[in-house]
Amino acid sequence: MTQPLLDIRGLSIAYRSPDGDTRAVRGVDLALHAGSIVGLAGESGCGKSTLAYGSVRLLRPPAVITGGSVTYHGRRVQAGGVDVLAATAQQLRALRWREIAIVFQSAMNALNPVLRVGEQLLDALRAHTPAPEEQLRARAVEMLELVGIPAARMRSYPHELSGGMRQRVMIAMALSVEPEVVIMDEPTTGLDVVVQREILRQVFELKDRLGFSVLFITHDLSLLLEVADRVVIMYAGQMVESAPTAQLRSGAAHPYTRGLLSSFPSLRGERRELAGIPGSPPDLRGELVGCPFVPRCGFATDACGQVDMRLGPVDRGGNGSAPPAVAAHVSACPFVTAHTPSPAVTVVAPAGPPVPATAAAGDRDRDDRHRAHPVPSGHGRRARWTPGAGDGRRGRPRSRRPCPGGDQSQQGLSPQPLERHLGRAGGLLRTAPWVGDRAGRRERLGQEHDRQAPGRAGTAQRR
Ligand SMILES: Nc1ncnc2c1ncn2[C@@H]1O[C@H](COP(=O)(O)OP(=O)(O)O)[C@@H](O)[C@H]1O
Ligand code: SF4
Ligand SMILES: [Mg+2]
Repeated sequence: MTQPLLDIRGLSIAYRSPDGDTRAVRGVDLALHAGSIVGLAGESGCGKSTLAYGSVRLLRPPAVITGGSVTYHGRRVQAGGVDVLAATAQQLRALRWREIAIVFQSAMNALNPVLRVGEQLLDALRAHTPAPEEQLRARAVEMLELVGIPAARMRSYPHELSGGMRQRVMIAMALSVEPEVVIMDEPTTGLDVVVQREILRQVFELKDRLGFSVLFITHDLSLLLEVADRVVIMYAGQMVESAPTAQLRSGAAHPYTRGLLSSFPSLRGERRELAGIPGSPPDLRGELVGCPFVPRCGFATDACGQVDMRLGPVDRGGNGSAPPAVAAHVSACPFVTAHTPSPAVTVVAPAGPPVPATAAAGDRDRDDRHRAHPVPSGHGRRARWTPGAGDGRRGRPRSRRPCPGGDQSQQGLSPQPLERHLGRAGGLLRTAPWVGDRAGRRERLGQEHDRQAPGRAGTAQRR
């Protein structure tokens, strides 16, 4: 395997406070290879931004890097790479923006409100590219036009631009000095899907043209499944699963990843109730012993309280065969594999017995190690959720009418993945199966009503 461009190993970052350290990033390993897109996903507060900014040493106190290493092996730096955590101020200045650029989470906050956007673009260029002023100005205009903003906007202040335009200015600024790595922290969060579609289309076109690598951070896993080569999932400051996108799509192993995957709808395949993940992530202050996902996990057993959270290969064979020597797909959960069926769902209602689950077969087929460790009684206090078994929640079967086109989750990536993901906005009403159902049902009810009340015929037509 080739050397990663950005190699993060065992990175740990804490925010110091009188109440104790908030350990926002806990021993994360992440490798970004040249020309690739790595997607980093997880709920809000799981440490994605801290990991990204910490890896370029952009965090200020009370943040402290408490362990690990970050090595950058760009084409323009010395052989052996740059040890980012040990770099001097001068080395960091040469590294940031020129080698590793960042599109920050909020364009509104990232741009200076009292400076024209052209000036801000020129500032970045002047700081990192030694060239005559006219050339820099021409480059700034070229970059703005590359992201679809007319040159006249060089004189605009940030408040005179729309949210999408401000985000494009940030992207233009990040790409203006041709970095090798671009970190995008929720670059399109808060923008409507049409603008999101346009911006991402431009970014990935530019990536192909300019050849940079992208660390793409978002809480929108469905988006990553369409654009990333590899997806990394974080939970409670730790990396819990990492896999090539197609493998994650067809066989996610970690229960948290499965939960994220069941939190958004698919336009194809069977209709299913969105399960979501009940509860919230743990407090990141202090130690987390064992698996931090225990209170929210439908697979949890006593053993999970003591488990070692180091990543291990996911045995995708499911037939006892040895995992590959270099694991492409790793998970922090040693119990649940991509083949482990979902266990039964138990919802403990405030009064009365638990609602029986429909997927009881899952219990019979559970992993052997789980059979040896029954679910502790204390875990029943919450609604116990099981990824992919949302229909069992209310104990009643749902209509399972297949949509034309088959199950999207079973298919590989299409040649135009971004188009398909973002095309949802326009295609929703046309393709949503329930739209036609509801109109037909109203029609039938109207006819039924007219049959029973002939004096008021015509209701069905009026509806
Ligand atoms: N400046 C700060 N001081 C203290 N805690 C912080 C600070 N910034 C972030 N945190 C905490 O660090 C954790 C991770 O935050 P963050 O990296 O922003 O998560 P994400 O980007 O995944 O939403 C959260 O629990 C957050 O409350
Ligand atoms: S099965 Fe146990 S170790 Fe695995 S994710 Fe659930 S709680 Fe964590
Ligand atoms: Mg963030």
